Parts: sequence; C-alpha cells; structure tokens
Amino acid sequence: MSKKKTKFSCQHCGYESAKWMGKCPGCGSWNSMVEEIEDKGSSRRGAFSGATSTKRQQPESITQIKSTTEPRIYTKSLEFNRVLGGGIVRGSLVLIGGDPGIGKSTLLLQTSAQLAMNGQKVLYISGEESTKQTKLRADRLDITAAELYVHAETNLELISDAISTVKPDLVVIDSIQTIYHSDVTSAPGSVSQVRECTAELMRIGKTNGIAIFIVGHVTKEGAIAGPRLLEHMVDTVLYFEGERHHTYRILRAVKNRFGSTNEMGIFEMKESGLEEVLNPSEIFLEERSQGAAGSVVVASMEGTRPVLVELQALISPTSFGNPRRMATGVDHNRVSLIMAVLEKRVGLLLQNQDAYLKVAGGVKLDEPAIDLAVAVSIASSFRDVSSNATDVVVGEVGLTGEVRRVSRIEQRVQEAAKLGFKRVIIPEKNLGGWTVPEGIEVVGVSTVAEALQYTLGG
Ligand SMILES: Nc1ncnc2c1ncn2[C@@H]1O[C@H](COP(=O)(O)OP(=O)(O)OP(=O)(O)O)[C@@H](O)[C@H]1O
Ligand SMILES: [Mg+2]
Repeated sequence: MSKKKTKFSCQHCGYESAKWMGKCPGCGSWNSMVEEIEDKGSSRRGAFSGATSTKRQQPESITQIKSTTEPRIYTKSLEFNRVLGGGIVRGSLVLIGGDPGIGKSTLLLQTSAQLAMNGQKVLYISGEESTKQTKLRADRLDITAAELYVHAETNLELISDAISTVKPDLVVIDSIQTIYHSDVTSAPGSVSQVRECTAELMRIGKTNGIAIFIVGHVTKEGAIAGPRLLEHMVDTVLYFEGERHHTYRILRAVKNRFGSTNEMGIFEMKESGLEEVLNPSEIFLEERSQGAAGSVVVASMEGTRPVLVELQALISPTSFGNPRRMATGVDHNRVSLIMAVLEKRVGLLLQNQDAYLKVAGGVKLDEPAIDLAVAVSIASSFRDVSSNATDVVVGEVGLTGEVRRVSRIEQRVQEAAKLGFKRVIIPEKNLGGWTVPEGIEVVGVSTVAEALQYTLGG
C-alpha cells in the first residue's frame, strides 16, 4: 500500500503547507496547523458512501424512500439499552467518554460479553492494555464467552484487517487516543490522528453494518480529548461519570441520532463489575437524614424517567467580604437567581449569607423544575426550620416569584407516591387534567411565598 501524502492546514483560515508551523503565515494565529491526509480522489465523497460510491444516486422524493426501522441489538442491561434509545443500532458509531478509571473498559467488556453470550460476535480492540490484562479483568468479572475476541492492537490498518477476518457484529475500540493511522505522521491522540482514525472506523462500520463503540478520554476541562469534531462525527455520544468516592456511576447520552438524549442509566461499581441500578430514587434517598433543616426532596425527570433526589442547602452568615455561593450538582447561577428572588419577593435577607447547595448522591440536575425545591431548601436552612420529611417539591420559579408549570407532572407524582411520600407541592397551573395516584395529597401553589407557607409554615 503506497503511503498517502499529508498536508498541514490552518483550522482558522485554511492556509496549507507541507510542513508544520507554529504560526500560520496566512492569518497569524498560533498553533492552528493540523495534519490532514491529502485526498487526490476525483470527487469529494461523503464519508459513509463507502465502496458503493461509484454509483451516482439521484435525489428522491421523501415519500418514495422506504422507511425501515433501525435494526437493533439488545443488551441484557436495561439501563444500557435505554440510554442508547432502545438497544445498539447496527452500523452506528458510539463514543463513550469518561474520566480515567471510572470504569469505561469494565462497562464495555461486560456489555461485549453479554452480547457474545447471546450469539453476537464481538471484537474488543484494546490499545491500552495487553490481552493478558484484559483477560485478568474478564476473570474478575467472571466472563467466559467464546464469541468475544480480544486483540491488542493500535495500528488502524491491522485493526481493519482483524475486523474483516473476524466479521463481528460489534467492535469496541479502547481507546481512540491510542490508535494511529500510518499515513498520518502526527502522534497518536493528536487532532489529526483521532479525526482520521474515527473517519476510517465510521466508513468500516457503515459499509459493513457493524456497530462500533469508541472510548474517548476526557480532558481536565471535562470535554472528550481530541477535537470537538469527534462528537459531531459520531452518531451517539455517551458520558460515563460519577464521583471517584462514590460507587455509583451514571451513563448519560448527550447526543443520540437514534433516540432521546438526557436519558441516564445508573450502575453500581462492585468487585464483580458494574451492576445496574433499577430503582435510583431509593438509592438517592437512602442516606437522607429525616427532619434536617435545608433538606428537600425534588422529583426531577432524567430523560423519560422520574427520579427523586435530595437537595441540601446550608446557609450561614458570611465571615468576610463577599458572600460565597457554591453549588454541586446544580448550576450556581440558578442558585444565585433563586436567592435573588427569595430576597426580593419573599423578603429573606440573604445578601450577607454564604450559600452551599448540594445534590445528594452525585447526580447533576439541570431542569427548571427543580427551582422551587432549591428555594424551599435555601429558605429552610436560612430559617433553620425543617420541611416535612414526607413532602416532595416540584416547580419552576419565575423572576416575579411566581411558580410556573412543569412537564410530565403525572409521572413525577406517581414516582413520589410509589416511594411512600405523602404530599407533593406542585405548580397550581399543573392541577387538573390527570389522575392523582392513591395515597398522596397534591397541593397547588402559585407563588414561592405560598410554597414556603405550606412546607415551612410561614
Ligand atoms: N478488584 C476490584 N474491586 C473493585 N473494583 C475494582 C477492582 N479493580 C478495579 N476496580 C474498579 O474498576 C475501575 C477501573 O475500571 P476501568 O479500567 O474499566 O476504567 P477505565 O475507565 O477503563 O479506565 P482507563 O481510563 O484507565 O482506561 C477502578 O477505578 C475501580 O473502581
Ligand atoms: Mg480503560
């Protein structure tokens, strides 16, 4: 195979050169030259038109295109299936990102084994660990699946050969930062290597109908290392996250061409591997201390599933200078906004108070429906009055102190009823039009002040 020529082009202005330069002569920007393979092909081809691209396609009317449902491969893990929008789509390219040591290899090895036991052929390419190391992990996870092939390789051409000999249904690449394309001279993990390798893998996957999982490292800032572009190229981007000191791990979809995003799957890391958690609300509420000031339970939607989570606030007088606002699991700007609403509309004097907010269990909540619960927990800690331990609070807060409607109220209330809560405080606008489950009282409120009246009694 003849070596293809590469060129360096500036990512800002498109200036091309045969050698790498620190400063682009075209636009003067620094460190913007990236190596690319020079494509001498006659026409520019779409990345996944692949081998059949010589046949020119004509535009078709949308009514004439046959609709087919995506063939999916179901894994044994319901959590994993749900995050992917109902199973792995054949021919799709999925990127899984996560902090070092969070359990990406474990998750994928376990999933591969489950599929291999179910009659699918899986090829696990390990660029970071030897086959012996992978075997050690497999032993710990109690994996014995004859249809699971393991290959320690980093050269993309050899990987491509391995794929054509094994002919798998699923390929796992652990990780993209270690794989290199021999036509590109840059080091593995560089922007051009990652991009070229992903493009090649995408072509292989799309033309042969093989689902490919790519592991990507996460940078210090929390983005998947390598170009942001990687996230655009793939069909699905999943993040595997969790706090190092907690055993719970959350698999979250941030982009999915075959299903809803914001779905999350919860797993627990155990000696024997990752175990799925099917009742997350119970786990998140497990360690809750009843009757403590500042603690409030909120019913939040994670994709299509309601989860009950405990919010904790600690408000204490500022000792020096500017008051501190710290929040884990919720956006701190939202906390500042709600504190301003409480100050102006409810009359709580919070400006010389430090505020710390925390979502228990290491979950991240980012929907507006948690606003009211944030307000109640702050007020509860500030006044040192505990809210009712059997209450759940839901609602969005507006700048005038009004409580606004939230989506999917019925599911949230059902989840609260299921876990034995006695009362739900919801926006008044959400009352009516749905059936209240048995054994739970629903209270509609239209302002934050009214919500505080009910929960804290004044
Ligand atoms: N014997 C063990 N008992 C319990 N947990 C273990 C054991 N060995 C490893 N682990 C867990 O598995 C994690 C490592 O998992 P894994 O290697 O899958 O992570 P990774 O995300 O692939 O890491 P990397 O970024 O290094 O590839 C450890 O951080 C630890 O939590
Ligand atoms: Mg790993």
